[in-house]
Amino acid sequence: MAIIKWKQVYETGIVALDNEHKALVGQIDALLEAVRDKRGKELYADVVVMLETYVLEHFEHEEKLMKEYGFPGFTEHQQEHQDLVAAVQKLKIGHAVKDESAARELLKFLRIWLLEHIVKVDKKYGPFIESRAGRFVE
Ligand SMILES: [Fe+2]
Repeated sequence: MAIIKWKQVYETGIVALDNEHKALVGQIDALLEAVRDKRGKELYADVVVMLETYVLEHFEHEEKLMKEYGFPGFTEHQQEHQDLVAAVQKLKIGHAVKDESAARELLKFLRIWLLEHIVKVDKKYGPFIESRAGRFVE
């Protein structure tokens, strides 16, 4: 059973982007469960590989929409994305030994991402794009 569940507070209001965020929340949940059961290291490499693809595709998607609708906070937001991309790269090379503490660190990083980036930063573009384009943006 899921430990971390999708909450309304995570919603940006842009359905396509919320669906991508849901995939990330699912990944955080899987890692949380694994860490709880002391098998986090088994998931470490897979999560990092998934994140590498995720940041490229998802951030590109967000940035495309922000640009398209003239979101005024675009440059700042893009900088946040670049910082997250750099952090993912660091995670990839940072832990030669993938042990439980590395998995716990990865989990902490993802929870901060969820609470700081999605809840605080991503939520700013939601109402803006929504007001310009309507809810069902692809
Ligand atoms: Fe974002």
